[in-house]
Amino acid sequence: MLDERPEPRMTDQNPLSPPLSGPPVSRWLGCFPELRRDTLGFLLHCQAYGDVVKLPMGLVVNLLLRQRDAAMYVLNHPADVKHVLMTNQDNYKKALVPPVESRIFGQGVLHTEGETHHCQRRLFLPFFHGNHVTAYTDLITRKTYDLVGHWQDGTTVAIDHEMAYLTLSVIWRLLFGRDAGSEADTIRKPIAVGQSLIKLQYDSLLASFTPLWVPTTLHRRFTRNFCAMEAMIHRSIHQRRMATHQYDDVLELLLAARDTEGRPLGDEEIRDELMTFLLAGHETTANALTWTWFLLSQFRSVRERLTQELNEVVGDRLPTATDIARLPYTKMIWDESLRLYPPAWALHNRVSHAEDRLPSGAVLPPNAAIFISPWNLHRNPRWFPDPNRFDPERFSEEAKRTHTPYSYIPFGTGGRRCLGESFAELEGLLILATVASRFQLRLVEGQTVLPDPAMTLRPNCPVRMIVQRIDVSEPHPAVA
Ligand code: HEM
Repeated sequence: MLDERPEPRMTDQNPLSPPLSGPPVSRWLGCFPELRRDTLGFLLHCQAYGDVVKLPMGLVVNLLLRQRDAAMYVLNHPADVKHVLMTNQDNYKKALVPPVESRIFGQGVLHTEGETHHCQRRLFLPFFHGNHVTAYTDLITRKTYDLVGHWQDGTTVAIDHEMAYLTLSVIWRLLFGRDAGSEADTIRKPIAVGQSLIKLQYDSLLASFTPLWVPTTLHRRFTRNFCAMEAMIHRSIHQRRMATHQYDDVLELLLAARDTEGRPLGDEEIRDELMTFLLAGHETTANALTWTWFLLSQFRSVRERLTQELNEVVGDRLPTATDIARLPYTKMIWDESLRLYPPAWALHNRVSHAEDRLPSGAVLPPNAAIFISPWNLHRNPRWFPDPNRFDPERFSEEAKRTHTPYSYIPFGTGGRRCLGESFAELEGLLILATVASRFQLRLVEGQTVLPDPAMTLRPNCPVRMIVQRIDVSEPHPAVA
């Protein structure tokens, strides 16, 4: 649908491709000190330097990579984004990831390339198709209902923590067909340590080149916790191989799958896929929901309109999949929240194979590292006027028709677009509707909540909120 609208006008189009510019950076350390100091602010600052901004990586990286002019290229123009992620995607591969990411995700669908990647996507697409995922509606609303059942009127909860456990319990069922139960802590712990480690590797050149076997305190903590989680996944695979009846879950799908040569998948391959979905499939949605509660707590008029829509459509029962199409304002809030705080704030860097001229006129050399950031695109005043203002009206049907194509990409685009998009949207909207029709969430005063760009865009501190029950007659889940 986006393709049907006119492509935007370029500002710097020039057939002779002038040298690309960028902000001044350190000669030796390149852009890394600036990125480390204030990643998100620095990216926004780069908007002033044109459609494609060149960020030299400095002499140290040149020496390490034995490359003459190693640089990152930030794409600020949606037409260039479309070109790299879609039109000419075969010229761009994902860059190598830091050791910790590679240890976590292995050869799961997030990091493979070529025929292997196509084969993996073909396997998962039907499972994550809209019609199949709506079957999980009941599971999602019941888990949410159980969660809010523990909330006492007027008490304080850490909403980021609550959302993470909720989305974890949902994805665990989707993957393994059973509840995470007491194992939830064994899963959340290594993820928290992994986030810190990934952040360190993003921020420090030295850390990003240090293999995991070097026994730093954080490496040892990560390995210890991560091995416990891995053992749990292996146990689940083993038990399922012995099971006598069939399940409708991702593990079953993987056990029945065949690789490109027609062979069944081994335990390691299955583990890599499960780990990928476990991580890609709950941190992101939990952060999206946390930011949505955060925004709602500050905009009374938006909250009131949401409550009114939920009263009219859902009332005191649990929301159903068919309700979702009748909750346009809830969806507008969700979309606007993903614009302001996209959980995948940066896509994985892509690396160019051959030299390529972008629609903006810029020419990228071979081996260029391409930096595409939904955070940066979504907060560019050229595509979203007054970009820092929370305004769900931007996503009314009428307003969406005026959006610049590919300026809004919370789920990426092209051949690597998020596999879980339909599921994430269903889950996000159902959780929002279930909670907001029962509780109002008020931010505890005195907290400064800021976005922290780690593996996902998470809040920099626990987000404490006071939960206040809305006066509805006590619902019964079966009524849904
Ligand atoms: C609000 C929630 C979510 C957001 C914002 C999100 C965002 C993204 C983005 C931007 C990508 C593309 C990364 C790139 O091109 O470098 C991606 C890929 C992916 N996502 Fe999501 N995601 C979300 C939820 C989910 C869920 C719930 C699942 C699974 C149940 C999932 C599974 C995946 C997988 C497997 C990929 C890799 C696709 C590939 O490389 O072919 N995501 N996601």
